[in-house]
Amino acid sequence: MPVTLVVGAQWGDEGKGRIVDFLAAGADIVARYGGGPNAGHTVQVGEKTYKLRIVPSGVLVGAKDCIIGPGTAVSPSQFVQELATLEANGVDVSRVWVSDLAHLILPYHVELDKAAEQARGDAALGTTGNGIGPAYVDRVARRGLRAGDLRDMRKCAQAIGSRCAELERTGLAVNAADIVARLEEDARVVLPHVCDTVALVDDALRAGKRVIAEGAQGSLLDVTFGTYPYVTASVTIASGAGAGLGFGPTTVDAVVGVAKAYATRVGAGPFPTELSDATGERLRERGREYGTVTGRPRRCGWIDAAALRYVAAINGLTHLAITKLDVLDGLSEVSMGVGYENAPQDVSLPFVMAANPKPVLRRFSGWASSTEHARTYGSLPTQARMYLDALAIEVGVPLAYVSVGPERSQIIVRKGAPAAALATGA
Ligand code: GDP
Ligand code: IMO
Ligand code: MG
Repeated sequence: MPVTLVVGAQWGDEGKGRIVDFLAAGADIVARYGGGPNAGHTVQVGEKTYKLRIVPSGVLVGAKDCIIGPGTAVSPSQFVQELATLEANGVDVSRVWVSDLAHLILPYHVELDKAAEQARGDAALGTTGNGIGPAYVDRVARRGLRAGDLRDMRKCAQAIGSRCAELERTGLAVNAADIVARLEEDARVVLPHVCDTVALVDDALRAGKRVIAEGAQGSLLDVTFGTYPYVTASVTIASGAGAGLGFGPTTVDAVVGVAKAYATRVGAGPFPTELSDATGERLRERGREYGTVTGRPRRCGWIDAAALRYVAAINGLTHLAITKLDVLDGLSEVSMGVGYENAPQDVSLPFVMAANPKPVLRRFSGWASSTEHARTYGSLPTQARMYLDALAIEVGVPLAYVSVGPERSQIIVRKGAPAAALATGA
């Protein structure tokens, strides 16, 4: 069965991009199913580092088609910029496709996002400021523009004109003529990439080809199942892939949940295992935990296995990928959240977390030696394996991959893991 799904299992930035890059070798299609340029997916190949915002990470290894699906929100100007940067780095972007059903993020969405954050004051969500929320609001309010609408600039100009007039009445400074002029320019670059991606995916699936669905953000940022209201505006969990790309629920054979060996969060909201001490600072510095998109320092803490159990349930995770194990190297002790003190019964996890509970921590001995050169599970330090084995048992999902550095080759693939098509010759 052809779809392998990759989802973030924490609050984003788990290293999804590099796992997708690994799996995409030889894949026919790599497809983003949700979110927009709030994402920043990093892939390091040799000395070169690529930061992908909306283009699927499979573009770097040369997946045949890279799809930005109907469930995404695309900023035409950001997309044009991203294509140019990739091309300047010698990446072939000719087979990057944007669904004509994907919604557009326009400059007024960015203004609305910033204004809403300002109005929230101390209760600000800490959004990435990319207009994601307002663009998805326009989608459900049935007044959004889609990539396919770029085929009819008159329609776009009309819709933008009336939306801007409405927004001006609320005091927002927007200039419809400028927005339309810029969009017209961007449309010349975007339109050759716009197509019916539903047919592309369907044809590939019928032919039994390999499709990788790339999640963005993290499960705990999902608009329904995340730590609401400190969430993004899209469906980030595995079931968002069918709804965001247009395939049925029986098509997926593996759901890989990606989590760091510790935890991070950027933006506001509950984070029970957060460390506001020197250990948290050490994780931030060693892990270079600064936002890919905004450069904001990420909040750091221990891994939360209790939250991962919930994430395994809402996604139907079949495999775990643990990244950044190397960041824990040299700590004398490592902890893992396994529950919450005085957690109420019959209350779902987002409500439990909203009460800022103290975590129940399980402590493990650390390991002194470096893991960054390990390429087999057996060659990891015993203490590291004890920590990872315990994690897999706590979460109830087998561990398929462990990464020990950001470079493409720094990954341990365990028996039974979904493998790159090239590696297996599949
Ligand atoms: P994504 O949004 O889930 O794709 O993750 P990001 O790219 O936002 O953040 C992950 C960061 O960790 C990037 O800077 C990666 O280069 C880096 N990274 C990924 N895996 C590893 C790893 O195993 N070790 C180390 N040290 N860094 C890693
Ligand atoms: P990737 O795909 C980490 C967070 C923001 C904020 C909340 C809402 O790289 O993992 P938004 O701009 O979406 O309205 O912000 O969601 N957020 C992310 N955090 N990684 C991401 O993407 C994120 N995308 C959104 O920081 O807390
Ligand atoms: Mg990221």
